[in-house]
Amino acid sequence: MSIFYDQQNNIFHLQTHHTSYQMKVDSYGFLLHLYYGNRTEQQADQFLVYRDRGFSSNPCDVGEDRTYSMDVLPQEFPCLGTGDYRNAAFVLQQADGSWGCDFRYVSHTIKKGKYSLEGLPAVYASDKEADTLEIVLKDVSKDWEVTLLYGVLPEVDVITRSAIFRNHSPEQVIVEKAAACLDFVTGDFDVITFHGRHAMERNRERSRVGHYAHVIGSRRGTSSHQYNPMMILAAADTNEDQGQCYAMTFVYSGGFEGSVEKDQMNQTRMLLGLQPQQLRYPVAAGESFVVPEVILSFSNSGLNQLSHQLHQCIRSHVCRGRYQSVVRPVLVNSWEACYFDIDAQKLYGLAKEAADLGIDMLVMDDGWFGKRDDDNSGLGDWYVNEEKLGMPLQELIGQVNAAGLKFGIWFEPEMVSEDSELYRKHPDWAFTIPGRKPVRGRNQLVLDFSRKEVVDHVYEQLCRILDHNHIEYIKWDMNRSISDVYSHVAGEQGRVLYDYVLGLYEFLERLHENYPNILLEGCSGGGGRFDAGMLYYTPQIWCSDNTDAIDRLRIQYGTSFGYPVSAVGTHVSAVPNHQTGRSTPLQTRGVVAMAGTFGYELDLTKLSTEDKVSIKEQVAQYKELAPLILNGRYYRLSDPYTDDIAAWQILSGNQQEVLFYAVQLETHGNMPPVYVRLKGLREGVTYKDTRTGQRYPSDLLMNIGLPLSSATQEYQSYQMKFVMV
Ligand code: GLA
Repeated sequence: MSIFYDQQNNIFHLQTHHTSYQMKVDSYGFLLHLYYGNRTEQQADQFLVYRDRGFSSNPCDVGEDRTYSMDVLPQEFPCLGTGDYRNAAFVLQQADGSWGCDFRYVSHTIKKGKYSLEGLPAVYASDKEADTLEIVLKDVSKDWEVTLLYGVLPEVDVITRSAIFRNHSPEQVIVEKAAACLDFVTGDFDVITFHGRHAMERNRERSRVGHYAHVIGSRRGTSSHQYNPMMILAAADTNEDQGQCYAMTFVYSGGFEGSVEKDQMNQTRMLLGLQPQQLRYPVAAGESFVVPEVILSFSNSGLNQLSHQLHQCIRSHVCRGRYQSVVRPVLVNSWEACYFDIDAQKLYGLAKEAADLGIDMLVMDDGWFGKRDDDNSGLGDWYVNEEKLGMPLQELIGQVNAAGLKFGIWFEPEMVSEDSELYRKHPDWAFTIPGRKPVRGRNQLVLDFSRKEVVDHVYEQLCRILDHNHIEYIKWDMNRSISDVYSHVAGEQGRVLYDYVLGLYEFLERLHENYPNILLEGCSGGGGRFDAGMLYYTPQIWCSDNTDAIDRLRIQYGTSFGYPVSAVGTHVSAVPNHQTGRSTPLQTRGVVAMAGTFGYELDLTKLSTEDKVSIKEQVAQYKELAPLILNGRYYRLSDPYTDDIAAWQILSGNQQEVLFYAVQLETHGNMPPVYVRLKGLREGVTYKDTRTGQRYPSDLLMNIGLPLSSATQEYQSYQMKFVMV
C-alpha cells in the first residue's frame, strides 16, 4: 500500500518509490497541504507556521485566534470564500448570486487500484500498480460535497489528482473555476512552460517565479498550439541532471489555465485546471461535476529524470489499445505530396513506390470526400467523392493492399464548411451566435459536439466508411480554434465548451471500442491539441505542421519534456522545406524523424535513385531500432536554444544499448571540437560503437563526452549505436 493514514494526527501520507506527499486534516476540519518532495518516513505537520497577519482574515470558528488564516496556510483545495485571497482552485456561485464555499473534511477511503473518471480520460493502472485515496469534504452550510481523488503510482513516481463536486442541495449552483493546486511554503522557483504558434509549437521558456501571477492557458476550446497544458516548477539551480523539479500535466484537451504565483509570505502556489473564461457550469440539485485530472510528478535529479517519469506514465498508463506499445507502421502521408490534388492514380503511385521502399502504410489525407478541392468547402460531408478519386474507395484500398501496404484515412469530424450539405441541412449544428455573423477559422465552422445528435450523426457517417472499407489508421484532425460558443439547445452557455470536450471524448471512445484494430493519430493543425487527454484515445499525435528538420529539433525538444517519443508523429519531407524554404540533408531529416513514430510526407514518385536507396536504408534502420526508440529512456543531451548542436540519446532499460543522435545547428570556420556527454550509462564499463568497433569507457563518455567528427556540410547529423561490452 502506498497510502497511509495516521489517525492520531489526521495525516495522510502518499508514498511513491522516491517521493512523499502529505496533507493533514486540522482541528477545524480544513485539509492542509504539508509536503511534496523527496521520500521521507517523517511527518511534516510541525512545519506549519501560525502568526497573526494583518489583513489576512480568519474563519469564524477559530474565534479570537488571529494566527489562523486560510490566506497563508498551504491547502489542498483552496476555494473562494474561506478568506484565502490567493488564486483559488475552486470557485462556486450559489443560487443567490454570491460566491462562497467552505469545504471541511468528513471522511476518507483508501482503495486498491486507480480511480477512473466518467466521461473523461484518466491515468489507468492495475490494482498492483496503484492505490486511490478519496477524501470527502462537505460545505459547512450547504449540502455540497467534494470528493478529492488521489491516485498513487509508486513505481512511476506519479500522483494524480481529480475532484468530483456533488450538489445535494435543492438549488442549482454554478462552477466557475476548477483546478488542482500545489502549495509550497518554501522555495525559490523557476517556472518552465511551452509556448508556440501554428507550425512552431512547444518552445521552452524558463522564467523566475516572483510576486506576480505567471499565467498560461488556452481560451480556444482546445489545449492549443500557443501553450501546452504542462508546467514545470524547478528550483532555481535545477538543470537536466540535478536539482528538484515538479511537473503538472493536464489530462484534458479543452481550454485550460495554469498559473504560478508567489504570495505575500514568499510561498508559491501552482494551479492547473479548466480555463475559467467562458466556464459557468450549472450543477442542478442531485447532479455532479467532474474536474479533469492532473498528473503530478517530482524529481530530485533534474529535468531528464522528471521527463522519464512523465514518459513512462503516459506510455504505460495513459495511452491504450492495440498499438500502445508496439512499433507503429511506417507511413507515407499524401498531404505534402499532393495537398488537395489527390486521385486514385496518384495515391496508387505513392503506394507502389512506398512498397519498394519498405514503407508499411499509405495515408490518404485531406481532399477525398464531399466537394473538397480546397479548404473552403466539404467538411461535414463524409462520403467518398468517387468522381474525384476516379474509383470507389474499396477498389483503391484493394490495390494499395495488393501492393503490400495498409491504408489509412484523414477525417476532421468536429468541423463543418458553410458550403456543405451538412451545413445547409443543419445550420444550427454549428457554433454560431443568433444575430451575429460567426468568426471563421480556415473558412470553416465548428460543430456543436456538446449535442449528442451531432456527435451521433458524424459518428454514423464515419462508420459507413469504416465498415465498408479496410481502413487501418485514422488521422483525426481539428483545424481551427473555437469561437462563437453558442449551443442552440443548451440553456446555460457556460457549460458548452466543457460538454464539447465530453462529446469529443465520447466519440473517440466509441471508435476505440468498436474499431480496436484501427490506429488513431491525433492532429490539430499539427500539434495544436498535443495533450495527455488526447493520448488516452490516440497513442500518437502529429507533432507539428512544420516538417523542417531544424525547426523540428526545437519543437521535439520542447515536446520531450512532457511526452514520450512513442506519442510524437514525425515525418521526413521534401526540400526545400514547404514551411521554411530550408534545405537539409536527407540523412538529417531521417535522424530527426526517427525520434518519433516515423514516416514520409513527400512525393515518393519524384525521388532520385540515390534518395530511394537512402530512404530504403532509413526505413529498414528505423524498423530495426524502433522498439528501443519507442520504449527506451530518452535523454536530452544539449539545449538547442543555446548550443551549436542538438543532441539526444535513447538508452535501453538494462543500459546495454544506447542510440546517440545529433544535428549540427551552426557551422563556422576552424570549428572547435564538439564533445557531447552521454547520460545514464552503466558506470565502470566499456561501450562499443557498433559501426566502427571503437570502444569507449562509459565514465569518460559521461564526463568528457563523445568527440564528434567535424561537420563537412551544413546541418550535418550524427547517428551512432553503442552496446555495452
Ligand atoms: C492540417 C494538418 C495537416 C493536413 C491538413 C489537411 O493542417 O495538420 O497535416 O492534414 O490539415 O487539410
